[in-house]
Amino acid sequence: MTNKQRVVLVTGGMGGLGETISTKMADAGYKVVVTYSPGNTKHAEWVAGMKANGYDILAVPCDVSDFDSSTKAVAEVQAKAGAVDILVNNAGITRDTTFKKMDKVNWDAVIRTNLDSLFNMTKQVADGMVERNWGRIINISSVNGSKGAFGQTNYSAAKAGVHGFTKALALEVAKKNVTVNTISPGYIGTKMVTAIPKEVLDTKILPQIPVGRLGKPEEVAGLVIYLASEEAAFVTGANIAINGGQHMQ
Ligand code: CAA
Repeated sequence: MTNKQRVVLVTGGMGGLGETISTKMADAGYKVVVTYSPGNTKHAEWVAGMKANGYDILAVPCDVSDFDSSTKAVAEVQAKAGAVDILVNNAGITRDTTFKKMDKVNWDAVIRTNLDSLFNMTKQVADGMVERNWGRIINISSVNGSKGAFGQTNYSAAKAGVHGFTKALALEVAKKNVTVNTISPGYIGTKMVTAIPKEVLDTKILPQIPVGRLGKPEEVAGLVIYLASEEAAFVTGANIAINGGQHMQ
């Protein structure tokens, strides 16, 4: 099968890392579908903007933290684009605050969106991949899932959980040519990172990055494209760090 026939579904594909992953996957010849949060009122504008730039990307609303919404969204994707061959679990949020100030609402929001979403979305597509004897599941975690981060007990817990999920599922589907991997980006120049108070970013975070700069979304997208490729068939259950040397495992 060529890239052109393969369907890739990128959750949270309209923003941050997801948008770059989506356009780079489209450039690589894949049929790309993105999910967007049902509250996003700018989705039609985004699709039109993409079209104007030559990208024919299908977009479906999906609350990845909700199982029923995920079921409905993937059914729509399958009806309109075909079976999902590559799932990129990218959607994620932060609700940073010290543990002392963290309430249950901010804990639950991050765990549901960043971790429950892996069950909600992967459940819809994993059996099909196994039946068709080919698939790629690429889970976007974070350097902070590996090393922890001040103000992120919720986020670090969810992102650490992502790789536990990856390792267990990778074992279950390995014989069926379905690979499951984690990518753990460090601080990449997206809105999520530029929203960090400048003082904190400049004095606490940037000095910890040996490469001396934030990462670029294109650099993460390149890794997604590799993991989706035929050449990556022997890479499974891995957690690939891309963090400018900030944390070496
Ligand atoms: N390490 C050590 N100390 C830190 C620190 C850090 N990373 N961040 C803050 N502190 C210290 C401050 O210096 C301050 O110390 P003093 O009281 O001695 O001055 C104290 O903690 C309180 O800091 P704030 O005034 O900032 O407290 P706050 O309650 O207003 O905010 C916070 C706390 C929400 C954690 C804020 O500091 C913050 O947003 N930090 C950034 C958290 C972060 O790195 N988030 C990552 C987002 S990007 C992402 O998640 C993508 C990815 O995958 C990498």
